[in-house]
Amino acid sequence: MHSLMPTLDDASNVPVYMQLYAYIKAQISAGQLRPGEKLPSVRLLASLLGRSRTPIAHAYDQLAAEGYAVSRPRSGLFVADLSIHSPEITGSPGIDPIDKSASKPLATDGPPIPSRAYHAANADEADYDFGYGAVDLSQFPHGKWRKLVGECFLPENGRTLLYGDYQGDPRLREEIAAYLLHARGVRSLPGQIVVGAGTYHSLALLLQLLRPRLGAIAAEEAVNDGVKSLLLQAGAPVKPISLEADGIRMDELRASSAQAVYLTPSHQFPYGMTTSIAKRLQLLAWAQARDAYIIENDYDGEFRYGGKPIPSLQGLDADGRVIYLGTFSKALAPSLRISYLVLPPELLSAFKAMAHSYDQLASPIFQAALARFMRAGDFERHIRRMRMLYNRKQETMLAAVREHLGDRVDVIGQGSGLHLLLRDRCGRREEELVTAARAARVHVYPTSIYALAPELAAPGTVLLGYGGIPIERIASGIRRLSEAWEV
Ligand SMILES: Cc1ncc(COP(=O)(O)O)c(C=O)c1O
Repeated sequence: MHSLMPTLDDASNVPVYMQLYAYIKAQISAGQLRPGEKLPSVRLLASLLGRSRTPIAHAYDQLAAEGYAVSRPRSGLFVADLSIHSPEITGSPGIDPIDKSASKPLATDGPPIPSRAYHAANADEADYDFGYGAVDLSQFPHGKWRKLVGECFLPENGRTLLYGDYQGDPRLREEIAAYLLHARGVRSLPGQIVVGAGTYHSLALLLQLLRPRLGAIAAEEAVNDGVKSLLLQAGAPVKPISLEADGIRMDELRASSAQAVYLTPSHQFPYGMTTSIAKRLQLLAWAQARDAYIIENDYDGEFRYGGKPIPSLQGLDADGRVIYLGTFSKALAPSLRISYLVLPPELLSAFKAMAHSYDQLASPIFQAALARFMRAGDFERHIRRMRMLYNRKQETMLAAVREHLGDRVDVIGQGSGLHLLLRDRCGRREEELVTAARAARVHVYPTSIYALAPELAAPGTVLLGYGGIPIERIASGIRRLSEAWEV
């Protein structure tokens, strides 16, 4: 067994478990720890390092969550195989003979039952609305925002009332670049950032930039429904790629002949899995060999509860293949309508060449206010507060589901984000589940609307968001749901 000899500094700002995690991660990446090698047990390493077990266990959990190590029940934790077993690494640009995904018909019809999960239009009809798009407003810094927006209307700040920079407020882009590096491991210069008016606006712009080079675009088999509409209108065939526990199926991607792939690697929407480090490396190798792009939508990566957020895929990319897409809709408030793209150099040039045809759609007023909010450190403070709150909300929901729905459902996607999925074990269809809940004035939401092809929809699975519902309403809402679903 390789001996681990980290230098751990108690005086550092970086918690000990993160130091240990970083050390082991570096050892694995450098090949000092070999694939399949067993890591010492938590108890043994704790005693070797003269530490308590807690930081060791946390470091191991983070390594497992990111896929650097694999846990085998009752055996321990083993180093994952990060070597890239793929045709592209040997130079063949992946023109595989079979395109499995090509035969999948794409969903174009609307859902059989109402409603996108994140439109609160019917919220008044519900006693309990487990809709998805809302954020919890109980901790929103209303006073600070009143002041920040008010400042934009002072005569000396009059320029804020004019057209802004077409790429986005430079001060905001600076703040975003600094935040992304620190919080998400994204490497960018402010000049690479293009501010947009929400994910769909940013994605529409990106698809326009990609259009001249897109033969086909691949995407996770289930995607946010707004994203789905945009992909289907992109003017290129869309290839749905199956999902498995550690991300998309690489064999299907290689067979797809796509020149771009859309992913939510930190927290798959809606199923919640994380793309493992091994798969991330394979994705980058695929993109490099095919001269393809990876669109990384990191819509809620800040909200991970068991450990640290999963670092971005963009941060691993040395080759300008990853386009990073972010939004303030989950981390702050959707009404701001502020999102951003981090464009690799080639696409940045394409954007600049076409720039005269774009206006800046995100309000310069909110951009200026947000830049100040971030500069003062308030955004990161807000995220820390919200992470704790959403963690408590998710725990409350999980405890209520265990208590009231027990063995009648499987829970999918815990540990991150602002929603959970419940899959009925009694074999009922999604429509029955949603309709029965609605009759009891509880709104839960279909997941089939996210499937890129109808046969890819998970059976009997509904989505429950907990962003908007007050924490004290969650348990009684789940109790009401269990009564509604009683057979
Ligand atoms: C996968 C995904 N991306 C992004 C968003 C946010 O979109 P926007 O930035 O347009 O508010 C959502 C909202 O529900 C989402 O599910």
